[in-house]
Amino acid sequence: LSVTERIRVIEAIVKTPIYMVLGYTYGRVVYVSNEEGVVSLWSLDPKTGLKRRLTVEPIHSFTEPKHVSPLIVYTRDVTKGKELQKVYHVDVRDGEEKLLADTPLMRIFGIAFDGVKSAFTGATMEDLAIYIARTDGSWEKLKKLDAISFVTDVNEDYIVGFGTLRGDPKTYEIFIYNLSSGEFKVYTPKEGSVSKVPKLFKDKMLFENNFEGKNRLYIYNIEADRLEKVRFTYTDYDRFNPIEHVDYGWTVDGKVWTIAKRDGRTKAFIDGKEVPTPLGYLSGMAILNDKVYLSHSTLTTPPKIFEVDLKTNELKVVIDNKLPRDVEESLGSTRFVKYRSFDGLAIPAFLVECRKTSKPGPSIIYVHGGPWSEVADMWNVLIASLVASGFHVLAPNFRGSIGYGEEFRMLDIGDPGGGDLKDIVYAREWAVKSRLADKIAITGYSYGGYMTLLALGRFPDLWSCGVAGASVIDWEEMYGLSDAIFKKFIETLFANKKELLKERSPITYVENVKAPLCIVHPQNDTRTPLKPVLKYLSKLLELGKTFEVHIAPDMGHIITTMDDALKIVLPTIMFLEKHLK
Ligand code: 4NP
Repeated sequence: LSVTERIRVIEAIVKTPIYMVLGYTYGRVVYVSNEEGVVSLWSLDPKTGLKRRLTVEPIHSFTEPKHVSPLIVYTRDVTKGKELQKVYHVDVRDGEEKLLADTPLMRIFGIAFDGVKSAFTGATMEDLAIYIARTDGSWEKLKKLDAISFVTDVNEDYIVGFGTLRGDPKTYEIFIYNLSSGEFKVYTPKEGSVSKVPKLFKDKMLFENNFEGKNRLYIYNIEADRLEKVRFTYTDYDRFNPIEHVDYGWTVDGKVWTIAKRDGRTKAFIDGKEVPTPLGYLSGMAILNDKVYLSHSTLTTPPKIFEVDLKTNELKVVIDNKLPRDVEESLGSTRFVKYRSFDGLAIPAFLVECRKTSKPGPSIIYVHGGPWSEVADMWNVLIASLVASGFHVLAPNFRGSIGYGEEFRMLDIGDPGGGDLKDIVYAREWAVKSRLADKIAITGYSYGGYMTLLALGRFPDLWSCGVAGASVIDWEEMYGLSDAIFKKFIETLFANKKELLKERSPITYVENVKAPLCIVHPQNDTRTPLKPVLKYLSKLLELGKTFEVHIAPDMGHIITTMDDALKIVLPTIMFLEKHLK
């Protein structure tokens, strides 16, 4: 293939829009899309099929629409990727963007809106706290917190959220801030359990917890101090027996809906009854009487929005998404597999084969970020670009990944770059033994970039080459450069074992790196800062290693435009074309 041909394929994937349904209000389905190049809020009028883009500059985070208000609240990074944000709102009817309140610049990570006020958790270099900002422009800092914590909902009476509120890195508790009394209460159904994402309905709170062995949904009545398990009218949900929940909430009349997940694929339920959807991953849903709108994708089919008629169970595409024919045809089969790691633990993984490449052939071990994230059967621009460019991709959900229960997720706490790295090495073994791969490269972004560099430094003979995006280089230096939330994050991930920071840092093993290495890094990244990367690069130079580097200007850790995505994906694939084929 010529260079222009290769670029055409990559561009076709990167410029394929994403769609994610957020909810419904005032006659519109509200969704997030980058259809015109930047991540924006959009509305869809289901009666006319008319789509409308509501926001202009890229947005950062967003809240669920509430039926009582036509306003959608969201944040925008006003610092070219440094993630210092302001809070805005837009009316789904007239699309006029307005600043909600002139709050100080901070990293906002967990925001909700009840129609008149927004509550959020915000971090600066000094502290992290719960804030409130109202549509009249007033705002307040309500309560400092000394934990990883996220606001997830607000109503007239309460602000609720969750986090490591007892200081135990392995548990999450709920917080309930009483807006009239100012009382701040930490709630858990059982000490040592994991509570996540409370959602309010009057004085009741719906949340996920694992205290009975599985992640299940519970309702806590705040006023009555009473806990009950969610009991559904229909039995489809119980038969599906999910492992985790992607999302859940209350219908207008107080029933519980959920998108539930098992082995990287999801199903949607209303009051326990399944909403018919295709195999794959649902990222969001909106319920409007007897119609449901869902965003769906798989690893090989880009996101679309479906409408399901609950009376007839008919499924209809309302926003379609098509790849060029040759690109679509190169994306081969997807398989969910499990392999055994060094200690016998079964590691789940997704395998996507390129239909135009023989087996065994050039293959990539793709390592996801997080580490509390996963590769599900869901559209992933980098994986799709790799496969369309002629590589087979194996994406392990190493210990510490979400999607396989709390016990599995906690296995990396106190051990990042330990057992999880060995799982990556065993993924490579599996790819060779199962005759998928001849030459193998490793790549990932963020925590995945970190694992890539650590793999190249600690197991230098195993890889033909590697590409590390937005990597962690040196945990100690990064800790010093981090704001209050990322300091907490590092403390939690390492379970306060400070002595491990150096041993688990890629900079410690830079001398051992043998394979050609490509480093891609956003200039303004404040999660995994560039400064330690520059130190790593000067070591590579001194040591005479083969490497290339691409610093993506004017962008941060979170990719919010298609042009920025191209700055990461294009050098990654051009390097792999050169060194792996
Ligand atoms: P992620 O990046 O994979 O995008 O979540 C990370 C950023 C920071 C840290 C870990 C991963 N940290 O520990 O601070």
